[in-house]
Amino acid sequence: MLTYQAAPGIDVISSHTAIPGLGFVPINAFVLHGAEPILVDAGAMVDRDEFMTTLRTVIDPGDLRWIWLTHPDFDHIGALSPLLSENPRIRVITTFLTVGIMGLFDPLPMDRVYLLNPGQHLEVGDRTLHAIKPPAFDNPATTGFLDSKTGGLFTSDCFGALLQGPPPESATDLAMSDLRDGQVTWATIDSPWLHTIESDVLARRLDDFRRIDAATVFSSHLPPAPGHMLRHLITSLQAVPGAQPFSAPDQAALEQLFAQNVSGNVG
Ligand SMILES: [Fe+2]
Ligand SMILES: [Fe+2]
Repeated sequence: MLTYQAAPGIDVISSHTAIPGLGFVPINAFVLHGAEPILVDAGAMVDRDEFMTTLRTVIDPGDLRWIWLTHPDFDHIGALSPLLSENPRIRVITTFLTVGIMGLFDPLPMDRVYLLNPGQHLEVGDRTLHAIKPPAFDNPATTGFLDSKTGGLFTSDCFGALLQGPPPESATDLAMSDLRDGQVTWATIDSPWLHTIESDVLARRLDDFRRIDAATVFSSHLPPAPGHMLRHLITSLQAVPGAQPFSAPDQAALEQLFAQNVSGNVG
C-alpha cells in the first residue's frame, strides 16, 4: 500500500490484489483535502490495519469530516468502522440502499449518514459534490460524484481494469491496448449485465457520461486518468456487450493452479 498525490489536494491511497491467471486489480481510496476533508471509500477489509496506518501519513483522521462511501463492497469499507469510532464528527455520504446492506453486518448509525441520490448535490465546505450514477457497477447502491473544486470525477468500480503488473500512478503509463483489454475484462467480470444491454441503449447512456467535463477520472480500480482520457475509457465500455463473457476458473482449473504452486489471493 502506498500513497501519492494525483492532483492538487487529492491523495491516492493505492493498494492492489493479484488474481492468478488474470492480473492485478488496483484498489484505490482517495483523500480530498479542503475546508471539510473527505475520504472516498475506505480500502479493503483485509487491509484494514495497514489502511489506517497509511491514511495517517496523508491526513489526521481526526480532521476528516466526511466519508463518501460509493457502495458497501468489501474492497471499499475496510476502515469505515474504525474511522467512525475514532472520529465522531465524520458523516458518511451514501445511499439508502448502502445503509440497508450495511445494516446486515455492521450497521451505520442513522445520525452519521447523509443520503444523496444520483442527480442531487451537496455543498461541503469549499466545494460541491454532484452525485452521479456510473454507467457500470457491480452493486445497485453505487454512486459516484463530480467534485466542483478539482473537476475530479469519482466513478467507483466503473472504468476499472485488470492490469499486467502492479498499478502505476497514472493511467497514462499504461499501453492503450493493455488499458482497453484490461478494462473490457474487468467489466465482463464486475458488470456482466452489460452483455444483456442493447448496444444502442448503452451508447446513449455512455453519451450522457461523455458530456461530463472532468479534469481527472478517479476509478476505484484504475490508476487516475486525466480528463482527456475519459472518451477512451468510455469507448472501452462500449466494446463490452460484444466481448467474450467471463468464464470463471472451475475446479479443474483450481487444481491446475495448485499443481503449478501458484500463490496469491483468488477474488
Ligand atoms: Fe463493487
Ligand atoms: Fe470495487
